[in-house]
Amino acid sequence: MSRRPVNPARRLGDSGSIPLVGSAHSKSRSSPVLSVVLLVVGAVLLIGYLYSGPGKGTSDNEPLSKLEVGVSCTLEVQKALPVLKKAYGDSMHKVLHVGPETCSVVFKLLKDEDTEVWGIEPYDLDDADANCRSLVRKGIVRAADIKFPLPYRAKSFSLVIVSDAVDYLSPKYLNKTLPELARVSADGVVIFAGHPGQRRAKVAELSKFGRPAKLRSSTWWIRYFLQSSLEENETATKKFEQASLKRNYKSTCQVFHLKSHH
Ligand SMILES: *[C@@H]1O[C@H](CO)[C@@H](O)[C@H](O)[C@H]1NC(C)=O
Ligand SMILES: *[C@@H]1O[C@H](CO)[C@@H](O)[C@H](O)[C@H]1NC(C)=O
Repeated sequence: MSRRPVNPARRLGDSGSIPLVGSAHSKSRSSPVLSVVLLVVGAVLLIGYLYSGPGKGTSDNEPLSKLEVGVSCTLEVQKALPVLKKAYGDSMHKVLHVGPETCSVVFKLLKDEDTEVWGIEPYDLDDADANCRSLVRKGIVRAADIKFPLPYRAKSFSLVIVSDAVDYLSPKYLNKTLPELARVSADGVVIFAGHPGQRRAKVAELSKFGRPAKLRSSTWWIRYFLQSSLEENETATKKFEQASLKRNYKSTCQVFHLKSHH
């Protein structure tokens, strides 16, 4: 009785190998039949693709990829660059961007001849593409843990722009990191942070960020800035808002403009 299950399994295995052997031996004889079958299968697949493919495919893919990626404030920085330029003018001449996917922002700013730009990737550059790796080789982009002092002298940059990264820092580290960003900047720090309730980076990235994003409300941030004696730059805030209105730009992230330490 206990042997029974063994037999069907072996028979299955045997019969599985037979057609292969058979077709190999009688190749010429079976090939017309085979090609007809393949043709029919191909036609069916093609028709199936044409009917269900384009329409259904894209509508299925889009929400899925958005869901996976979530809101990226680094992407938001790219969109906001023209508005930032209006708000900061000359202060955009030497920019440090800090945040995941920093290469994307650096590339965009490099196209502008008047802007010198550097990037800090706070997590890792393991999945960086070839273009990004070339920026790393040139020393324009570097990986650095922003929980520790940054390897730059005071006022090394005119403007520091940080996206997403602060959402992953606990208040203990924010206390170290934000003053550091203010230290290395001369004309201000712009912070792009997520809104509470926004969907963040995909779960697979949690291991990379070390902890899930903590999305804080604007009241939380403003109270935090006050406590830590980080001053908001009201001139910059106002200019940014005006330029946003003019260009019909609406950020999906919270944007804060802080003064540098002097
Ligand atoms: C961060 O700094 C503020 C102001 O100096 C202080 O009140 C707060 O306790 C600090 N938080 C942590 C977690 O160290
Ligand atoms: C405030 O922002 C303006 C740009 O709008 C900039 O020129 C100025 O230097 C900033 N002030 C400080 C103290 O960071």
